[in-house]
Amino acid sequence: MSPALALSGKTREISGNYDSLEMLYQKGVKHMYDNGIEHVPSKYILPAAERPNVNSEKNASPDELNLNLPIIDFAELQGPNRAQVLKSLAYACENYGFFQLVNHGIPEEIINNMVNVSKSFFEMPFSEREKYMSADMSSPVRYGTSFNQTNDGVFCWRDFLKLVCHPLSDVLPHWPSSPFDFRQLVVSYAKETKLLFMLLVEAILESLGLKNREKKTEGVNDDDDDDILKELEDDGSQLMVMNCYPPCPQPDLTLGMPPHSDYGFLTLLLQDQVKGLQIQHEHNWVTVQPIPGSFVVNVGDHLEIFSNGRYKSVLHRVLVNSTNYRISVASLHSLPFTSTVRPSDKLITETNPRRYKDTDFASFLDYIKSCDSKKKNFLESRKLY
Ligand code: OGA
Ligand code: NI
Repeated sequence: MSPALALSGKTREISGNYDSLEMLYQKGVKHMYDNGIEHVPSKYILPAAERPNVNSEKNASPDELNLNLPIIDFAELQGPNRAQVLKSLAYACENYGFFQLVNHGIPEEIINNMVNVSKSFFEMPFSEREKYMSADMSSPVRYGTSFNQTNDGVFCWRDFLKLVCHPLSDVLPHWPSSPFDFRQLVVSYAKETKLLFMLLVEAILESLGLKNREKKTEGVNDDDDDDILKELEDDGSQLMVMNCYPPCPQPDLTLGMPPHSDYGFLTLLLQDQVKGLQIQHEHNWVTVQPIPGSFVVNVGDHLEIFSNGRYKSVLHRVLVNSTNYRISVASLHSLPFTSTVRPSDKLITETNPRRYKDTDFASFLDYIKSCDSKKKNFLESRKLY
């Protein structure tokens, strides 16, 4: 064990050693955990009011805290019951901002490979992972810890690898080349999730009353909405985020991810069997029960803006625990980085006037760079009232 690690449980007493501790934190929580850390260093300790077990749960029974999210059956959505499923989809996006997607049709092997190759990546020696560290928020590959490790005042208990997935031929040469099958497995997964995302967006436009599959075949023109579909399909952005949450000796003092909403249109999240994701629902933090093989899908800021506030981009966070590693993979999809997101004209009415400013990726980057981990709510800054 290195001297810094031997001391790391007592950070308050060793302020003189601060420089080396800071260097230690920059290496991430996996590195710290592997070296046998026994206490959470003060760098990770949240102010009492922001810790996981305060306030929110005072009146809720344990059942209410384990939220059964609406379940959308993708196979049923593609079948004769589409109209009914579209209603459930609209209900979920309006009232939860989240749903679990089952029967999505992505082969189990592709999903398992994605989870396993993520695990293998984080299991490589730090010297190997470190090659992909970058302070540049728009780099095609970025390995790191916390949220924004150059800015966060308090760190969160999470290491991550972020991969830009489009345009693939440009970004692929920058992706990790080990484990040896990393690129191939992640590409297969990225292609499948992109396809699924497109089919979900089509359903979402339909659920917003912006598109009608049947009318389309009768030759009715839905120009605007075909435009957005085409833009998403041809040049939409896709970001893959692999999250690694090692066991944490004092999980009540810190978070794997602070409350945030997701930038983008939709996020397709794969979580393993270990609980941790919580969403804000009716003023409580409630845990999303993992359903093996399903996706947790959530509305991102861009879809809330596009839907002029009808669909909600909901705050969520991640708890850690003292016994189990947790891995998750989030695939974030949106318009091209160069596009402007604005409420759909058809959803602005006299009774529901425009609620959001025009939004582009540059303003998001400016926001993210300037804020620390306490409040990740870009959307608030885009509201007109
Ligand atoms: C994210 C996210 C949740 C999780 O990557 O944006 O919210 O369970 N992840 O890891
Ligand atoms: Ni998220």
